[in-house]
Amino acid sequence: MSAVLTLDFTVNGKRRRVRVPPMKRLLDVLREDCGLTGTKEGCGEGECGACTVLMDGVPVNSCLVPAVQAAGVKIVTVEGLAKGPALSVLQRAFVERGGTQCGSCTPGILVTAHALLQRAKGRVPGDAEVRVALAGNLCRCTGYQMIVNAVRAAARETLASGPGRAARTARPVAREQGKSARAKSKPVKTKAKARTTATVRAQAKPARAKAGVARRRPGPGR
Ligand code: FES
Ligand code: FES
Repeated sequence: MSAVLTLDFTVNGKRRRVRVPPMKRLLDVLREDCGLTGTKEGCGEGECGACTVLMDGVPVNSCLVPAVQAAGVKIVTVEGLAKGPALSVLQRAFVERGGTQCGSCTPGILVTAHALLQRAKGRVPGDAEVRVALAGNLCRCTGYQMIVNAVRAAARETLASGPGRAARTARPVAREQGKSARAKSKPVKTKAKARTTATVRAQAKPARAKAGVARRRPGPGR
């Protein structure tokens, strides 16, 4: 008889308890045992970022995380980004600016972008910074610029509607606008996510951890 783990964790602010095999992928626990099918599977190998969720605020590829590592952890999935039935500012910006097309990559990108905006609170991240943060999320449809535009538009809207707007926005926004024309280069790897991915790989697949995220295979237009 195979071992079963009683997994207690928090998903989108709610305490959950499920009984699962300890090595079941977090991706499958979320989709099959928690009914949260917003998180998607792309490659299943830690390469595409479609399955990204937050573990204690850090983006991870949930296809590489065994259930046992989620014990006691706070998970946020794409379903947890909006409060109530309305789209979040970030989600709406993606819709309005063409940041989502087929949608396969969108849940993972939204989660990663949400984490970026949480880290960047009080300013608008520049083009290059957004591209670095999203380097672990592949998209075959949008060409990335519309995604970057959507993330920055959401940051601007959040700043414009928040308290202390003038003090926070004047210089950072001006500086980032100056950078935007120079930031056409393709995405480079995010150190934070690369570290996280490498850590998860080191625990889940020791042999692959040495290769880090450099093994991603960029496709056309990347
Ligand atoms: S499905 Fe997890 S990284 Fe691609
Ligand atoms: S919108 Fe289709 S893969 Fe990104």
